[in-house]
Amino acid sequence: MATPSFIIVAIDGGAASGKSSSSKILAERFNLLHVDTGSFYRHITYELLRRGVAHTDLPSLLQALAELKFTTRLNGRSAQMLISGQPAASDIRGHNVNDHVSHYAAIPEVRHTLLSYQRGQMAVAQQHGFRGLVMEGRDIGSVIFPQADFRFFMNADPAERAKRRAKEGQQDSIAERDRLDSSRKASPLTSPAGAIEIDSTHLTLGQVVEKMAASIAPKFAGS
Ligand code: CDP
Ligand code: CDP
Repeated sequence: MATPSFIIVAIDGGAASGKSSSSKILAERFNLLHVDTGSFYRHITYELLRRGVAHTDLPSLLQALAELKFTTRLNGRSAQMLISGQPAASDIRGHNVNDHVSHYAAIPEVRHTLLSYQRGQMAVAQQHGFRGLVMEGRDIGSVIFPQADFRFFMNADPAERAKRRAKEGQQDSIAERDRLDSSRKASPLTSPAGAIEIDSTHLTLGQVVEKMAASIAPKFAGS
C-alpha cells in the first residue's frame, strides 16, 4: 500500500486575521501538527527583552542569538518552542511583547536563526505520526514552505480585527505591527503566489474553516 503523502498547509495573514483559531481546528480535523510561528517570534522577543538586548544593538543581539538553543515539546497537537529548555512565559501575548516583536522580527539575523528550526517542524510532525502540518505566520507560504500543498492568506477589515482582539481583552497595536511587518525588507508579510485569499470580515470562524477544509479535504481523500 502506498504511504499517504505528508501535507503542508501554510497560513499567512496580518494580526488577528484568524490564523491561530482556524489552524487549530484544521489540525484537529486532519490530524496535523499545529505550528504557530508568531509564538516563536514572541518567545525570542521576550527572551531578548529579558536579557536587556535592544533590537538596535546588533553585536549584542548576535551574541545572544548564538546562545539560544531551540527544542520542541508537544502541547496536544501544537508544537511548543523551548528556549534553553524553557517554555514561553504566559505574557508573550502581553503589550510589552506586542510593542517590540515586529522590531526584532524585522532583523534578518533573527529570522535566519528561526529558519531551519521552523522547517524542522516537518520532521517533528513525521516523528509523532501526524499526517502533515499546518503552519501559520507571515512568511510561511512565501519563504518557509513555498512548496506547501495549500497556501492561505487571511485578511479582515482592520477595524473588525481590532474589535476581535479587544474582545479577547488584549492591548495590541495591530495596525502598527501590520505596517512594520509589511514594509520590512526581510520576508515581509505578503500574500504568497498561488494563495487562496480569505477575507473574514463578514464570516464567522466556522465559515472560514469550512472554506479552507473544502480545499484541503479532496487531497486527503486521494492519498
Ligand atoms: O497573533 P498575531 O497575528 O497578532 O501575531 P503573531 O502571529 O503572534 O506574530 C507576532 C509577530 O511576530 C508579528 O507581528 C510579526 O512581527 C512576527 N512574525 C513574523 O515576522 N513572521 C512570522 N512567520 C510570524 C510572526
Ligand atoms: O492568529 P491570529 O492573530 O491571526 O487571529 P486569531 O487569534 O485566530 O483570531 C483573533 C480573534 O478573532 C479570535 O478571538 C477569534 O476567535 C476571532 N475570530 C472571529 O471572531 N471571526 C473569524 N472569522 C476569525 C477569528
